[in-house]
Amino acid sequence: PFIYVITPTHKRPTQKADLTRMGNTLRQVPNLHWIVVEDAGVRSPLVAKLLLNSGIPHTHLNILKPDYCKSGCVARGSEQRNLGLDWLRQHRGPLDSGVVYFGDDDNTYDLELFEEMRSTKWVSVWPVGLIAGRWYERPVVHNGKVVGWFTGFPGRRFGTDMAGFAVNLNLILANPNARFVLQGAKSGMQENNFLNKLTKLEDLEPKANNCTKVLVWHTRTEKAPLNKHVKDNVDIEV
Ligand code: UGA
Ligand code: MN
Repeated sequence: PFIYVITPTHKRPTQKADLTRMGNTLRQVPNLHWIVVEDAGVRSPLVAKLLLNSGIPHTHLNILKPDYCKSGCVARGSEQRNLGLDWLRQHRGPLDSGVVYFGDDDNTYDLELFEEMRSTKWVSVWPVGLIAGRWYERPVVHNGKVVGWFTGFPGRRFGTDMAGFAVNLNLILANPNARFVLQGAKSGMQENNFLNKLTKLEDLEPKANNCTKVLVWHTRTEKAPLNKHVKDNVDIEV
């Protein structure tokens, strides 16, 4: 099966560095299609060139965050993820076999993660490292079944971060209502609400050795201060 990685991305000083690092990972994964969705009114030449140079099969989309998100939204990137889902629903059909993963542009991905998720029949889950002030969060597995979550934010049926699950493409196509809802949504609930529309807890497929291996890290790139920059006579893309 193909792996479809949906990545929201937005303009900031470290964007190209983050996307370069992610592209260097993804280009090593066979049968992968990268759906990059810019949080912008137009597609930028920076991202377009980066995608072309990466050699990765890709789709480049854009959608600006809704106005009610301008002053900070409970779900960064979710309007963009929805557009990626729309694209899949328009361009892929029930005869296509695939797995859909939401990969943020600043996380760190082990290549093994992609081979783990490739066999997803329904919805698969695994641990995420360096998150919520902890070394990791993870699904708790008993006798090969997910029975709960080790998480810094309890009280959710699906206590996972965006980086901690993948969904079979056919399940996405069969459930057009599976989208991220931003308006009126509570912060930290978007993954839970999305998965709620797709699966029951007992049907989750634990990956990464029964969720005992960290293959993805919720790293965050330090904000580049740029307070020492002086004017130069050339215009260099950074
Ligand atoms: C955490 C979760 O890991 C994200 O999956 C979730 O979307 C986010 O919180 C949230 O709920 O707001 P975090 O590291 O805090 O992630 O968020 P970012 O990495 O800053 O943003 C997530 C993704 O959305 C990134 O790929 C980023 O480039 C993109 N983004 C961010 C936008 O498209 N627009 C923005 O204004 C901000
Ligand atoms: Mn992040």
